[in-house]
Amino acid sequence: MAGKGTPGFLPPFKHFATSAIHSGQEPEQWRSGAVVPPISVSTTFKQRAPGEHTHYVYTRFGNPSRHILEEVVGTLDGAQSLAYSSGLAALLNICHLLKTGDTVICMDDVYGGTNRYFQKVASENNLKVVFVDCTKPKCLEAAITPKTKLVWLETPTNPTLKVIDIQACADVVHRHPGVLLAVDNSLMSPYFQRPLSLGADICMSSATKYMNGHSDVLMGVISVNDEDLYNQLKFLQSALGAVPSPFDCYMCNRGLKTLHIRMKLHFHNGLAVAKFLKSHRRVEKVIYPGLHCHPQYEVTKKQNSGVSGVMSFYIKGNIKNALAFLNNLKVFALAESLGGYESLAEHPATMTHKSVPEDVREDLGITETLIRLSVGLEDEEDLLADLDQALEAAVTHPFSPLHHRSSSDMRRGQPSQHINDCEVRNWDS
Ligand SMILES: Cc1ncc(COP(=O)(O)O)c(C=O)c1O
Repeated sequence: MAGKGTPGFLPPFKHFATSAIHSGQEPEQWRSGAVVPPISVSTTFKQRAPGEHTHYVYTRFGNPSRHILEEVVGTLDGAQSLAYSSGLAALLNICHLLKTGDTVICMDDVYGGTNRYFQKVASENNLKVVFVDCTKPKCLEAAITPKTKLVWLETPTNPTLKVIDIQACADVVHRHPGVLLAVDNSLMSPYFQRPLSLGADICMSSATKYMNGHSDVLMGVISVNDEDLYNQLKFLQSALGAVPSPFDCYMCNRGLKTLHIRMKLHFHNGLAVAKFLKSHRRVEKVIYPGLHCHPQYEVTKKQNSGVSGVMSFYIKGNIKNALAFLNNLKVFALAESLGGYESLAEHPATMTHKSVPEDVREDLGITETLIRLSVGLEDEEDLLADLDQALEAAVTHPFSPLHHRSSSDMRRGQPSQHINDCEVRNWDS
């Protein structure tokens, strides 16, 4: 079963499950022979003589439980890895590689918190950030300047599930020495996507999502396969101090042991839900990279061994129908986040992406009728029945025709420029 994969998609990575379960965790290394790695809660470690330490000194610099997790994540990502107290803390550490005046090119559709960090924090701290649609590598090429030092991709994007060709972007970026390509892999996990093997320099994941998978740990991880870059990030990890607790490292390590099984079922249930919604009379449009009709389905098959359980859809009608649908769900919980074993539903325009300016939201397709689902591991028939009853219940609210604004209406007051037919949005002006 493990080796088969999904016809047409990239074959699964070899030895994934065995590595997730055993890598760096041989019981012989602990005197007790414990099969489950022990949790080391000590913040400090006794030295044999001043400056003569075992391997560990102080937990912010390094901790045995964190070390085990970093070893496993490194094996799964095909790299060396570092763990952080959240996905956004990992992003912050990456941005500390940059200097005043450097430019970041960010995919125009990203997680709301990433958008907010770039727009409201990084731009205030003397980084220039421009937002570009990187599904078109020629737009990325056109946006790169001598000041560009980092390109930030998220694929699939959150919440409109655009898929970016990582290899094509890496080819563009690496024509410009000194520019790093970072990919947020949170929506895929290393089970379905390995950005470093597709040419990225940095793979970052919010382990809060699929990697931990149980909605009870906040964590970020970064993987790189360049020794210098690893050492710079390792220095920043202790210098900035946003490290996860030993207990959270233990929990995330435990979650990783079932990642392969969970991802297969997320894909199975995700596909079933996407097909069901696509044929539902109350649904305007479904966006799921596992559907043939997804605009980047071919790219998805080329670079992924499967697709997660995250999808978005437009409900017919208006915001009242969207909210009524959400309020009527019983199995799906109305909550932010994604990637846990439980099914979640949310309204990006008023929840995860509220901090994205309204006109930009509209332009990206984050309208009031867009709903994002994180399809969990419950029984398929229960999920479909829940969606069906909530969609029917949502009809009791009168439909009103969608108000389609033109792109130019929506960009009123938006600082942007055009390079070779590609729009580049500036946030620092
Ligand atoms: C795609 C993506 N990247 C990054 C983050 C931030 O991760 P965290 O919440 O662990 O800081 C999120 C959180 O929802 C996300 O969805």
